[in-house]
Amino acid sequence: MAEIVGALMSSHVPAIGRALERELYGDPYWRPFFTAYPPVRAWLNETKPDVAVVFANDHGLNFFLDKMPTFAIGAADRYENADEGWGLKPFAPVAGEPELSWHLIDEVIPQGFDLTVCQEMLIDHGLLLPLRLFWPDAEPLPIRIVPVNINTVLFPLPSAARCQALGQAIGEAVRRWKRDARVVMIGCGGLSHQLEGERAGFINPEFDQIFMDRLVDDPEWITRFDNEELVELTGSQGVELLNWVAARAAAGGPLRVVHRYYHLPISNTATGLLALAA
Ligand code: DHB
Ligand code: FE
Repeated sequence: MAEIVGALMSSHVPAIGRALERELYGDPYWRPFFTAYPPVRAWLNETKPDVAVVFANDHGLNFFLDKMPTFAIGAADRYENADEGWGLKPFAPVAGEPELSWHLIDEVIPQGFDLTVCQEMLIDHGLLLPLRLFWPDAEPLPIRIVPVNINTVLFPLPSAARCQALGQAIGEAVRRWKRDARVVMIGCGGLSHQLEGERAGFINPEFDQIFMDRLVDDPEWITRFDNEELVELTGSQGVELLNWVAARAAAGGPLRVVHRYYHLPISNTATGLLALAA
């Protein structure tokens, strides 16, 4: 049977892609950011997951405002990276794990989670940059993925409670997958930020820190907020934290903190990084 080894959550911003391209590891602005990841890499080297279920939001690459699935899942044997407008050079494609995708589709849709099934899916900075930070030197990445897309872009969004329920259902289904695979859950994006409008540049570090605390031991806490409250508290892109909520729920619990890091700013947000072991 498959085993879930833990959950990793990381911010994403396109500027990280530029910093990776230019190898700005020692740059004064980027150094604190790049120092965040080595402890997670050490844990991955020990734990050696084979498969990742990656919860992320699309940024206009697959879905735009005219067609926006609330939840979508990839069922491809590989995922090409493409740039949705930031001018980043694409990374190599990432291998899929279609057998697990179809297992999840067959288990989770009958439970009432209406996933849009995508036999082709492109991956953008939001999903790929956290993976590139976890496995920086490997080309191709040493992991096969199942992408799960959550709409954090176009209202109405799924509630935190619904994302948590989806994560739980996916985690339970992974545990019933009859393969000797080691699976890690990954949540991408956040934490608080707002890119447009009067509150452009808004960041709420106090809320981010409380959210990170609670996600470890009291993951239900976030479900007390509806999405309008979450936008108020975290900004219009801060709701990307729904990807963290789903990944945490998918890993089950209790979980042990392997590494936790919060640093401000990177671009319009913070580096939020949390690694939790089963
Ligand atoms: C930024 C953050 C994001 O989540 C994103 O998708 C694009 C840009 C930023 O802070 O620059
Ligand atoms: Fe984003």
